[in-house]
Amino acid sequence: MLSNKVNLNKAKREGKNTTTYGSRYFSEPIPKFEIPESGMPPRTAYRLINDELNLDGNPNLNLASFVTTWMEPEADVLIAENNGKNFIDNDEYPQTEIIQNRVVNMLARLFNAPGDCDFVGTSTIGSSEAIMLGILAHKWAWRENRKKKGINTPETPNIIMGADVHVVWEKFAKYFDVELRMVPMEKNNYILTADKVKDNIDENTIAIGVILGTTFTGQIDEIEKINDLLEEVKETKGWDIPIHVDGASGGFVVPFIYPNFKWDFRLSHVRSINVSGHKYGLVYPGVGWLIFKDKKFISEDLIFHVNYLGGVMPTFNLNFSKGSSMILAQYYNLLRLGKGGYTQIMENLIEITNYLRNNLEETDVFELLGSDLKLPIIAIKIKEEFKDNFTVFDISRKLREKGWLVPAYTLPANDEETAVLRIVVKENFSRDMADLLMEDIYDVFSYYNKLKDEGNDDIKEDSINIF
Ligand SMILES: Cc1ncc(COP(=O)(O)O)c(C=O)c1O
Repeated sequence: MLSNKVNLNKAKREGKNTTTYGSRYFSEPIPKFEIPESGMPPRTAYRLINDELNLDGNPNLNLASFVTTWMEPEADVLIAENNGKNFIDNDEYPQTEIIQNRVVNMLARLFNAPGDCDFVGTSTIGSSEAIMLGILAHKWAWRENRKKKGINTPETPNIIMGADVHVVWEKFAKYFDVELRMVPMEKNNYILTADKVKDNIDENTIAIGVILGTTFTGQIDEIEKINDLLEEVKETKGWDIPIHVDGASGGFVVPFIYPNFKWDFRLSHVRSINVSGHKYGLVYPGVGWLIFKDKKFISEDLIFHVNYLGGVMPTFNLNFSKGSSMILAQYYNLLRLGKGGYTQIMENLIEITNYLRNNLEETDVFELLGSDLKLPIIAIKIKEEFKDNFTVFDISRKLREKGWLVPAYTLPANDEETAVLRIVVKENFSRDMADLLMEDIYDVFSYYNKLKDEGNDDIKEDSINIF
C-alpha cells in the first residue's frame, strides 16, 4: 500500500501517466521573484504562462489600441521563421537590410518624396523612436545653421506642437533638453492651428510637430496652413523651419483614401515623417518608420559607423539590437496587398467607422468630437442631459465586463473637464462586431438607467491609460 503511494507521488513529481495539469507544478506555487534552481518541462512552462495570460483582455476586442492584433497565417509563418535574426547584424543578414531599404523606398514614394530629392529612412521600434530621431536631426541642423551663421550666443532651442500630441513628443523635449512650446487646445478645437504656431515661433524654433491623426480625437492639425506660414516666415525673416509630421496612425490611411489631401513631402517644409508600421501598416508590434525627404537634413555627426559586426555599418538609431521579423512582415503586407489591397481595407474601415458613428449618434446620448474626422477613430462625449445617469468611465468599465476594451479619458489642456470614449476601428473589426458593440452599449445604458430609477449609484472609475 505504502509503496503504491510512493510510486504515485514519484509519478506525480515527474508528471508521468497524467496530463500536464496532473503534474506537481500545478499544485505548487510557481516561481515569481527568483529564478528557480531547476527548470520544468516545456509544455508545463507554456501552459502555466499561457493560462495566466487568460487574465489579459482579448486583443481582438481591444478597441483602445491602434496596434495590429491580426495578420494572415502566411505572415505569421514568415515572422516565426525569422524571429532569431537580429536586424543589426547587417553583415550576417544583408538581405534583411536590403528588404528594409525597399520598404523605405516604397514609403518615401507613398509620401510623395520629390524625384530630385535624395530621401533616406530607417525602420524603428515604433513611432516613438522615429519621432525622437527625427527631431534630434532637426535640433542638430538648427545648431549647424547657427554655427554657419557665426552665432555663438547660448540659446535654448524650442519646439512647437499642440497639446494634442502623443506623450513621446513631451518626452523628447525633456530628454533632449529642448524648450517645449506646447499650444493648449481650446474647447471644441483639438488641433494645432497656423495662428497658434505664428504666436510662438522664433529663430530658435528647431521644428514644428504636426499630427496626422491625433491620439485624442483622430483629427489632423492644420498642416498645409502651417506650411504656408513657414514659407512666409522664411521669406520675411529668413528662418528656415522644418515640419516633422507624426503620421503614426494616419500615415498608412490618408495616402490610400485621400490621395489628394496634402500633408506630406509635397509641402515644402515637411522634411521628415514617421509612421507606425504596427498601426495601420497592419503589422504586429513593434515596427515604425522614419523617412527624411533628403539626406542633407541629417547631420553626418549623428551617424555612427560601427565595424564590430564585420564590414563598416552606418547606424542612425536610438537602440541597437532588434528583431527582423516585423520589418519583413511589413514588406510582406506591401507585396501581398499592394496599393489596391491597402485601399480596400482602409475603405472598409472608414465605412464601418461611419456606420458606428451614425449608430452612436442615433442613441442621442453621445456627441461626436471632430466632425471632420478623416481616420477610423471615433471620440465621443456624453451629452449634458445624461451626465447624471452615467459617465464615460462608467461605460468603459461596464463594457470591459463584456470583454470590450474601450478607453475613457479626459482631453488635454485647456479642456481637461471634457471626458471622452475612444474607439479605434481596426482591420478585424467587422460591421457585425459594430452591431454587437452597439447592443452591449444599449445594455450598459439600461443598467445605469435602472440603477438611477432605483435611486442607486455606482462607483465612478478613473481614467485608464490610452497610450
Ligand atoms: C499620434 C501618435 N504619435 C506617436 C505614437 C507612438 O507610437 P508608437 O506606439 O508606434 O511608438 C502614437 C501611439 O498611439 C500616436 O497615436
